[in-house]
Amino acid sequence: MNRSITAALLGAVALAASTLCAAEEVSSLRGHAVTDDSDAVLNKQTLSVPGGFDVAWEEQPPMIPHPIDNYSIDLRQNGCLKCHSPATFEANNAPVIADSHFFDRDGKRTEKVAPRRYFCTQCHAPQAGAMPLVENILPSR
Ligand code: HEC
Ligand code: HEC
Repeated sequence: MNRSITAALLGAVALAASTLCAAEEVSSLRGHAVTDDSDAVLNKQTLSVPGGFDVAWEEQPPMIPHPIDNYSIDLRQNGCLKCHSPATFEANNAPVIADSHFFDRDGKRTEKVAPRRYFCTQCHAPQAGAMPLVENILPSR
């Protein structure tokens, strides 16, 4: 009795294993099988681009042309304003935050940066010299 249960269990395990092996291999965007231990993604260096980046359309938040690792934004401090506020930009030779950042949602002018513009990196992003993970083309028909 015990022996036949063991045999049945072994059979079930073997069947499950063969089913697993037969399953189609799925691979990640980086080309690894999802079951592989892939290499950790390298931390790409943030680009410093004197003169800044061109914008692609008129209302685009300009991309950040410098590293931002040392500037934090929280309830008490905003590292970006140390260089970009109307009071500090001249001394730091930085562009001052746009006038649009001083209006609340009702169009009323605010004395300080409008709360909806406080978290700068919500809209402005630094850039790294990373290649796209996958080709960016229109699918052919
Ligand atoms: C130590 C001073 C300093 C700090 C702090 C700083 N920046 Fe800058 N930032 C600059 C300078 C200087 C430039 C101009 C660089 C150039 O054009 O060569 C610049 C450029 C920019 C631009 C490009 C503007 C444009 O019109 O192209 C953006 C956006 C920007 N910074 C956002 C930020 C954000 C967001 C933070 C906080 C996470 C931040 N910066 C912190 C000095 C600073
Ligand atoms: C909700 C999105 C948003 C947030 C949040 C935001 N910005 Fe902007 N920013 C923009 C857009 C859009 C523009 C370009 C259009 C304009 O002038 O309003 C811009 C323009 C700028 C410019 C370029 C000004 C110029 O004259 O070329 C600087 C510098 C800047 N922002 C800094 C900041 C800083 C610093 C913060 C945080 C205190 C911040 N922004 C938060 C959307 C945002």
